[in-house]
Amino acid sequence: MSERVVLAYSGGLDTSVGIGWLKEATGKEVVALAIDVGQGGEDMNVIRQRALDCGAVEAIVIDAKAEFADDYLMPALKANALYQKRYPLVSALSRPLIGKHLASVARQLGADSVAHGCTGKGNDQVRFEAAVAAIAPELISIAPIRDLALTRDKAIEFAEKNNLPIAQSKKSPYSVDQNVWGRAVETGFLEDPWNAPIEDLYSYTQDPDVFREPTEITIRFEAGIPVAIDGVKYAAIDLVQKMNDLAGAHGVGRIDIVEDRLVGIKSREVYESPAGIALIAAHEELENLTLERDVNRFKRGIESRWADLVYEGLWFSGLKRSLDVFIDHTQEHVTGDVRLRLQGGRAVVTGRKSEESLYDFDLATYDTGDTFDQSLAKGFIELWALPSKIAAKRENNRGKK
Ligand code: ARG
Repeated sequence: MSERVVLAYSGGLDTSVGIGWLKEATGKEVVALAIDVGQGGEDMNVIRQRALDCGAVEAIVIDAKAEFADDYLMPALKANALYQKRYPLVSALSRPLIGKHLASVARQLGADSVAHGCTGKGNDQVRFEAAVAAIAPELISIAPIRDLALTRDKAIEFAEKNNLPIAQSKKSPYSVDQNVWGRAVETGFLEDPWNAPIEDLYSYTQDPDVFREPTEITIRFEAGIPVAIDGVKYAAIDLVQKMNDLAGAHGVGRIDIVEDRLVGIKSREVYESPAGIALIAAHEELENLTLERDVNRFKRGIESRWADLVYEGLWFSGLKRSLDVFIDHTQEHVTGDVRLRLQGGRAVVTGRKSEESLYDFDLATYDTGDTFDQSLAKGFIELWALPSKIAAKRENNRGKK
């Protein structure tokens, strides 16, 4: 039996041609693996059949939507994960999951290698290969576009010559990656960072500039996980989908950013992540209500480190796992309700309450019933400012010398 390679298959031109291209270049039999992470679009059975028609010896479809929501999106939400303070890691979250399935299918089938359709310029190649390496270190990773010089023109030529059922696929002016956490759009006219995005780019969000009456919703969180909207319980995957509809209808979650890629390139990216942005806003505010000050402050630093690690493909690294333990521990009391107002591209928190709240009305109030002993503040400030005071005296004395 010849060696086998398991290819992460999307159904698009590059990975479809990649099947035959891999076979020609390596002599290996190609198994296509399509993972459903809620990217929508074509039916997964159509994609599966196309892989077979393009020469795969086997084509496997895995519905990983619930796993993606439970094991990847919920941890990202608990971490309020935003790369460079803005990007909710849409693609960066799906790659380790796909890598994990690639590795496990390769092992099950006795394949010696895995493959993906990334170029050599992006982050996704790193994420796939680092995930596979961390799970099945014996596997070889192959990237036909990067390693076997499969260009777009050659791909079209190959598809036409071999009569592949993909030749007619029209080239999108952009490179798009999408899943249930959002969409990433790059290249085309966006490569000039001065060019403003056009309405055409978006599909999860409506134009936020069109006036609509606001939508107000209440999200229930339990230990950091959103579990219900307006009293209706949802599994994580369904709740995220529901939030995409609600927040997307108000144009929430559009992001336009120049981002630092792992390979050193700066790239201009347009994203839309209605559920991601709305849920992070709600979750973070519930933390403000329920976390001790120092835990909250310290966690904000951990969050950005977490986002950097995940962005840079280290989902399965030791540091990321250890940070998860810290983050999970902080979520113990992050239970309660957040009211969100969705309108004009924004998700604004207008109310929060929690049975685990640290907000003490009697301490906070300026009205009668105040239990805060203001006389204590005077001595506190005296000691708080003491180190600065002593240092200032030294400066003054030096001036006199
Ligand atoms: N720049 C983003 C990231 O690194 C999006 C990548 C999108 N991938 C793609 N093949 N278009 O996460």
